[in-house]
Order: sequence, then C-alpha cells, then structure tokens
Amino acid sequence: MKVAVLGCGSVGSQVVRLLLEQSDELAARVGAPVELAGVAVRRLEAAREVEVPEGLLTTDADALVRRDDVDLVVEVIGGIEPARSLILAALEGGASVVSANKALVAEDGPTLFDAAQKAERDFYYEAAVAGAIPILRPLRESLAGDNVSRVLGIVNGTTNFILDKMDTSGAGFEEALEEAQELGYAEADPTADVEGFDAAAKAAILASLAFHTRVSASDVYREGITEVTAGDVASARDIGCVVKLLALCELRTGPDGERGVSARVHPAMIPRSHPLASVREAYNAVFTESEAAGQLMFYGPGAGGAPTASAVLGDLVTIARNRLAHTTGAGESAHADLTVLPMGET
Ligand code: HSE
Repeated sequence: MKVAVLGCGSVGSQVVRLLLEQSDELAARVGAPVELAGVAVRRLEAAREVEVPEGLLTTDADALVRRDDVDLVVEVIGGIEPARSLILAALEGGASVVSANKALVAEDGPTLFDAAQKAERDFYYEAAVAGAIPILRPLRESLAGDNVSRVLGIVNGTTNFILDKMDTSGAGFEEALEEAQELGYAEADPTADVEGFDAAAKAAILASLAFHTRVSASDVYREGITEVTAGDVASARDIGCVVKLLALCELRTGPDGERGVSARVHPAMIPRSHPLASVREAYNAVFTESEAAGQLMFYGPGAGGAPTASAVLGDLVTIARNRLAHTTGAGESAHADLTVLPMGET
C-alpha cells in the first residue's frame, strides 16, 4: 500500500511520523506493507517537525498524485485549491483519498463524492470535523439505522478556550484571545475561528451526514464570538448557564409545513447541568439526539497535529483494508430532499 502525503505542516508531519514509526503495526493491521511513497511540500528547505527520508520530498504534488504506484493520497494542505484539483486527479488516476479538509468538503463535497464513486475509489474525511473524535463515521454508519433529530457541537477549540477563559477568570474577549494566541491555540489571524467560519464548515458536514442530505457552508447561519462580553458571560453564570459557541443542526418543519434542516453557528447559553457545559479549554464535543439511541456524546481533542493525524491514519487503515478486499466503503447517501431553512424560520 503506497501512500503519498500532500502537505507537511502540523498534521502532515504527524501523519508522516506515524507512518514511519508504526509501519510494522500498520502492515499487520492492514494485511499488507504500508509504505510512504512521497511527501509534497511547497518548499524543500523549510523547517519541519519530522525528518522525511531522503528522496521522498517533492514540490511537484501533481506528479506525485498521478504516479501509477500510489494507492492512497492523504491531503492535508487545506483550502480549496490546489487541494480540490489534486484530489480529483488522484481519484481519476486510481488512488483513494483521505482528507482533513473541512473547507473543501463543506463547499464542494458532492464533486469529490461523485468523483470517488465514478472512480470506484474511497474518499474519507473523518479528520475534517473535531480532530481525533470519531464522529463522521458514527453519523454515516453507526447511526444510519436510526433517525437523528438534532446535533449540537462544540467544534472549534480556539473559541471554546476563549469562552472558557472568560467564564473562569472573568477576562474580556480581547484578553482571552491574546492568551489563546500565546498558547498557540489561535492563529495570528484568528478570523476563521472567532467569526465562526471554521465551525460553520463543520456544521455543514455534520448536518449533511446526520440528515442524509446536502448542506454547504454557505447555507449555515453564522455568528462568531467577537461581540460576547465579560458581562454576557457573568449574566449567564448568574442564571446557572455557560456561554458556548454551538453548531446546531436540527430537523424542523418550515413555514409551509415542509420538512427542513436548520444549521446554524452562534454563541448560546447552555445550562451548567448539560453535558456540553463540561467541555473545557480547547476540547470539542458533539452531542446527538436520535429516536432509538437517545442522547450520545462524543468528546475529545478537536485539533492539533497528532490527534488529527490519528483520525487520518484510521481512515487510511480502513481504506487499505477495503482496497485489499477489492471493495469500497459506505460512501455518501444524500437521498433526503430537505430544504435548508433560513435563520428567521427556525
Ligand atoms: N482552528 C480549529 C480549532 C482547528 O480551533 O478548533 C481545527 O479545525
């Protein structure tokens, strides 16, 4: 099983490290040798968290994904392009793909799913939502026989850290953001996190899988946490609540009686007795409600190189096993014709 990795940042370098350090265990679990075929990077000379073996680094990602001997491509470069073109080229060339790219799946997932189906290859993306937490496969597979009615997620670690800091220390937004940046949680430009774009992409993916439909990032109502004040957090505390940035995905009935989906991201007050209130610091959690299973909660580290690489490697093992069995995985099932309800109607 020859694996090409696109990107060698914090996630990519951990994927490469695990592939190199655990190649014997991976081979035993898969039932065939798992070998790193190449790592595509922007610059050969950059400092990296992992030492890539001689000759495996390349700046020609396009040639790497088209190599005949590559069975599986791991895309961890993020963003829309060139990630989308590289994934499509890999699938067309006969490789399966693992991606951690929430922005791309939330914007243009169907193009990728259709390409994978046409090529009879797998496209898995467990790492795109909530890092190490297994949540996409449970929604797609474990709960496929149940009727999910609601998904509530704390799916952005940076904003959860900031709101938790404001709750525990009484700090204002700016002060808590500064601390998040000092500790390396928030990026130098924290816009995608604090304005809710990151959580909205994840909400779109969760809603699509939970309700067997297609919701894209632009369908999701979005409000970030920049307007949340120390006073808001204190008032919530006074009434036994905590403020969290929630991704809420629900099945609802629209104004004309049609069945619809509401997908939204905004700060919300939740009672301290709710399991999501106990999600502290930069952790993530996804809480689901379904007809037969009732309430479930999935909790853990939602970001970071090694936790995200764990989800990538899980997908890689599944795909490798499928490949050896000459089959593909469950794929996407977007058969439900549901309207995405605008915020005013939810
Ligand atoms: N910036 C994201 C977060 C990283 O803070 O959760 C994972 O998508």
